[in-house]
Amino acid sequence: MTITDDVLLRARNVSLSFSGLRVLDDVHLDVRRGAIHGLLGPNGAGKTSLFNCISGLYRPQNGTITLDGEELLTHRPHALAALGLARTFQHPALDPHLTVLENVLIGADTRIPGGYLTSALRFPAVRRGEREARRRAADLLEWAGLADDADEMPNSLPYGSQKLIELVRAVMSEPRLLMLDEPAGGLSHGEIEKLSERILTLRDDFGFTILLVEHHLGFVGGITDIVDILVEGHNIVTAPAAEAQKHPAVIEAYLGQAV
Ligand SMILES: Nc1ncnc2c1ncn2[C@@H]1O[C@H](COP(=O)(O)OP(=O)(O)OP(=O)(O)O)[C@@H](O)[C@H]1O
Ligand SMILES: [Mg+2]
Repeated sequence: MTITDDVLLRARNVSLSFSGLRVLDDVHLDVRRGAIHGLLGPNGAGKTSLFNCISGLYRPQNGTITLDGEELLTHRPHALAALGLARTFQHPALDPHLTVLENVLIGADTRIPGGYLTSALRFPAVRRGEREARRRAADLLEWAGLADDADEMPNSLPYGSQKLIELVRAVMSEPRLLMLDEPAGGLSHGEIEKLSERILTLRDDFGFTILLVEHHLGFVGGITDIVDILVEGHNIVTAPAAEAQKHPAVIEAYLGQAV
């Protein structure tokens, strides 16, 4: 899939404060359809807060956020899934009482009439939807190298696997925009390499547009088309990672930290 000039997600003038403390200050973001777009910045820059605004968990005091031209800020978080948004969290947020497969099937909920686990009435269309969802979940778990873990409880698995399960759950809903909050955080070097390949596959073979948060330009350099760097709630640079890395404002913001 090639990147287009067509903007899928657009944020303008997004400002967010908590008890007078400004966390996001006039932030903007243009994620083009077909892109892998990085959102970077030091600790506390406001990356997760912006994700939370886009996915409806935080309500900014100012600004507009549109997906394919549709304003998101008027919708509740669960309605956003139906509009085509899916995200992962910085720390995996899986249900510890459900198996890996069941956790993944939750991601299909927005696509199956009546919901997957909640549907009490088993209409044929629902059953068909369930069968398809199970097949798709099995395929995606295989793709993620987790086929053998389908019936395990997520807390019995390594941290890296839990993060992948969350990724698979987000992919299950076939979102128009897939948002990943620090997918490489806490992973080993080898796991990060595999993750990079998988993220590229998600764009190139699955056709997703991806917005991902990271700390380090190193990891995202190889997979992103463009990055936005936030520092203390402000946008400071929008550029390809290699270019952004050389920007004086970025070097200053990362002073003393690995870029
Ligand atoms: N619910 C909240 N209530 C109060 N302050 C908050 C809340 N959420 C975020 N903040 C503050 O907003 C600022 C930005 O936090 P945020 O988690 O968005 O940063 P981040 O860029 O994701 O950082 P990290 O790289 O550490 O994940 C921090 O000062 C944080 O304490
Ligand atoms: Mg964060």
